[in-house]
Amino acid sequence: MRVYALAKELSLTSKELLSRLKEMGIEVASHSSSLSEEEEARVREVISGPPPGEEKAEEIPAPPAEEPVREAEEPAAPPPPAEPAASLEVVVVKFPVTVRQLAEYIGRKPNILIKKLLEMGVFASLNQFLDEETAVILGSEYGREIVPFVPEKTETSGSPEREKPPVRPAPPAGANLRPRNPVVTLMGHIDHGKTSILDQIRKSRVTAGEAGGITQHIGAYRVAAEKGTITFLDTPGHAAFTTMRVRGANLTDIVILVVAADEGVMPQTEEAINHARAAGVPIVVALNKIDKSTARPDRVRRQLAERGLNPEMMGGDTIVVEVSAVAGTGLDQLLEMLLLQAEIMELKADPDGPAAGVVIEAKLTSDRGPVATVLVTQGTLKRGDSLVCGPFSAKVKAIFDENGRGVTDAGPSTPVEIMGLSGVPGAGESFQVVENEARAREISELRQNEDQEKSWDDSRRVRLEDIFQQFADDQVRELTLLLKGDVQGSVEAVEMALREIPGGNAGIKLQIIHSGVGAVNESDVMLAAASGAVIIGFQVPLAPKVARLAEAEGVDIRRYRVIYQVVDDIRKALEGLLEPEIKEVILGEARVKEIFKITGLGTVAGSMVEKGKIQRRGRVRVMRGVEEVASDVVTSLKRFKETVEEVTAGKDCGISLANFKDFEVDDILVAYEVEKIAQKL
Ligand code: GTP
Ligand code: MG
Repeated sequence: MRVYALAKELSLTSKELLSRLKEMGIEVASHSSSLSEEEEARVREVISGPPPGEEKAEEIPAPPAEEPVREAEEPAAPPPPAEPAASLEVVVVKFPVTVRQLAEYIGRKPNILIKKLLEMGVFASLNQFLDEETAVILGSEYGREIVPFVPEKTETSGSPEREKPPVRPAPPAGANLRPRNPVVTLMGHIDHGKTSILDQIRKSRVTAGEAGGITQHIGAYRVAAEKGTITFLDTPGHAAFTTMRVRGANLTDIVILVVAADEGVMPQTEEAINHARAAGVPIVVALNKIDKSTARPDRVRRQLAERGLNPEMMGGDTIVVEVSAVAGTGLDQLLEMLLLQAEIMELKADPDGPAAGVVIEAKLTSDRGPVATVLVTQGTLKRGDSLVCGPFSAKVKAIFDENGRGVTDAGPSTPVEIMGLSGVPGAGESFQVVENEARAREISELRQNEDQEKSWDDSRRVRLEDIFQQFADDQVRELTLLLKGDVQGSVEAVEMALREIPGGNAGIKLQIIHSGVGAVNESDVMLAAASGAVIIGFQVPLAPKVARLAEAEGVDIRRYRVIYQVVDDIRKALEGLLEPEIKEVILGEARVKEIFKITGLGTVAGSMVEKGKIQRRGRVRVMRGVEEVASDVVTSLKRFKETVEEVTAGKDCGISLANFKDFEVDDILVAYEVEKIAQKL
């Protein structure tokens, strides 16, 4: 019997049962692990035995007993901030502060901070504002004690209360954590039934209203199930999910992977799996279209198992629910499993205090001005609040729920539409409520200025030098790759070859976050951007559109035609041996006018510099028509018998080369320089 099923029977939460099992010395991996009959019997005996008062006490969230409880109460997720030791260097930081600015304060590269934040579960972009709590923790990671600069009297007598709770994944502020609804995103291959499932669950007709039945927008809705409420983000798939991540918003708690039982695992199913994995979000599988006569659920379960999603039915931990969006079957069970998964995750947020959250979508309406769908992640958003959202500010004029009804406030995990913004923010932009309208405007102006000196500059690019710096700083022990190839066979061959490379000098690990067949696409680029990965394209084309996106997002795409070259480059990268790329830069050209033979000097080409410049000791190529007759070095460069270092265009000079003597009139001497460009990877 499964842990969760037994828990249900015994009227315990799965978490409670898990901790009881641990006390009893019964080892299980998770709520979906199986118990032997003997174990089950033991548990029943023990649980039915002791007075039930005991575990009830655990269930009720401890009342917010002011300060000391806090540390112990915190979920395990973020690494505990090293308490500022006496030796930390004090840095006074003016808030609000962006990742980029904080990097300057701390004296580290911004992308190192971004990596570190990623490790902490915070998906921050360069220009994202950090709350004090996060900044302080980050500072302590680098031996700095961040002390907020307090300009005026906004100070609250040194109270540890944080004014602006961050976008969710940041470490919780502590005080009053309460359970919150899970936020769920559906992903899966095209036409496997994402929209239909959501539609059935909401009992409304989204598919019918869409152009061609394809989901075109990102909306958010809450669904009340028997045992709780679930917030659904209706994204059109993993590309949007990852784009939000790149923008700094990791909203999704659980991914529903929709797989059609007839078609099974398809390329986009695999992509979705890898996108969810890269984000560290648990997956619940909805095996859809189970009503079809061609449905082969067992085959799909095997396919899932092959990809590391081992279904419960086969002894694994992955929850797989058979559903039919059309017949409406299995959906209640799906909701129940989502709530179960959520319960295990102990999702919490602090409903008190000023709200923070993320924009899901926004648009400009003719009658209501800018309107944004936002998801509140912390605190409670109230009508009349002043907030900053990206470069915009707002005095919240009205709040609507998903049914278009006006409400006065919205707590954590609640999606609402708000009016009153000064502009239309982008999806994934975070918002924070601030003290008053003046402050909101001040911050938004500050951000607008900053936007002008934008933005995704080079420091975000994953360069080899940076990786080494990070290796040296002990920040990163991994080189992350995303691999695309022309056919399955070559993808597998490359992947296998790469995995066989020993971990380089310092035991650096190679991680392949996604591999697949086909051209590098936009969703690959976004995944790489979100994960700091380098893309390897093996015998695949690269569309200009994708190349441009990669450029904009600072993602390095390297293409190869031969396996050993891929392996060679990666091995060298890991060992720090990547050869710099050699590039020639043309400096100038001179035309030979006359040829002199001078004793002691040999042959001198009397020349006129026609373009650029010729340098003494520089390299030249001797061109006769289109033919290169020699490549040599300038040993003597003279103007009117004077040796000079360089001669520029429009001037005569005498040139001698180290070896070549057989000049002819009208030969062109092309001066060039060899530039070594350190390779990026
Ligand atoms: P995209 O948004 O285009 O990626 O597709 P989607 O995943 O949202 O799929 P959608 O819900 O639009 O469904 C695609 C097709 O599959 C539609 O024609 C649905 O009627 C059909 N379909 C969805 N679920 C089921 C199901 O449970 N059984 C059957 N028989 N058909 C289904
Ligand atoms: Mg759809």
